[in-house]
Amino acid sequence: MKYIFANWKMYLDNEESIALASKIAEEEYDTNALRVAIFPTMLSLSAVVDLVTDTEIAVGAQHVAWSPAGAYTGAVSATFVHAAGASYTLVGHSERRHVFGETNADVRQRLEAAIEAGLTPILCVGETQQDLDEGKRKYRLQRQLQKALEGLKLGEQGLFVAYEPVWAISKGGNGVPCTPEDAADVHQWLAVEIASYGFTDVPLLYGGSVNAQNVVSYLELEGVDGVLVGSASCTYEKFSPLLTAAVTM
Ligand code: PGA
Repeated sequence: MKYIFANWKMYLDNEESIALASKIAEEEYDTNALRVAIFPTMLSLSAVVDLVTDTEIAVGAQHVAWSPAGAYTGAVSATFVHAAGASYTLVGHSERRHVFGETNADVRQRLEAAIEAGLTPILCVGETQQDLDEGKRKYRLQRQLQKALEGLKLGEQGLFVAYEPVWAISKGGNGVPCTPEDAADVHQWLAVEIASYGFTDVPLLYGGSVNAQNVVSYLELEGVDGVLVGSASCTYEKFSPLLTAAVTM
């Protein structure tokens, strides 16, 4: 099974999200070989769940709060997201960490809240360009993993980890992807690190400037179970060929 997860970030408004989800819902692909999940904005989560309800497409949130309910203006809980019919949530996406200042401690709380609510969390980890330049890639990833995973109690719904080097993530489609060789090395190393916390069978996704042209070069790697796609998942013209490439590989 390979996973194609579409992170729409804050690219699409409600009408655009509904339109794109409707088109993706009509795509035909081997659901035994490929699992597709869409991560729209909170505004559109319920509508997208309703649209894909009779399909194999799953829906997730991009972010959840750490408390199930309460006086948290502007926040949406994992419990609400689960009740709305979503099955996944991203946790610790690099834009949450670096634009909104979320710490490893925040990430841990959100991870626990997601598990408690019955969602499958996709823990996102990745080093910055500065980390890379300073030879701190593994140090950064180790810290993110340790704070997130040490002593964590997983639910039946399991856990995914997405390796998204911050320097490879596109801003509107112009990122420099991590080479497949490099991604393969990191993924192999990550699997061992994750297993050291007692977690095996954790699907590992690669994310960062994945598109229709390069998606197969990641999916065919041993140790890469799928991809987390941002900008190239936000239009049908980009996402449909990406799905086709994945299906026909
Ligand atoms: P990108 O984003 O595909 O636009 O690089 C990936 C992500 O941030 O999840």
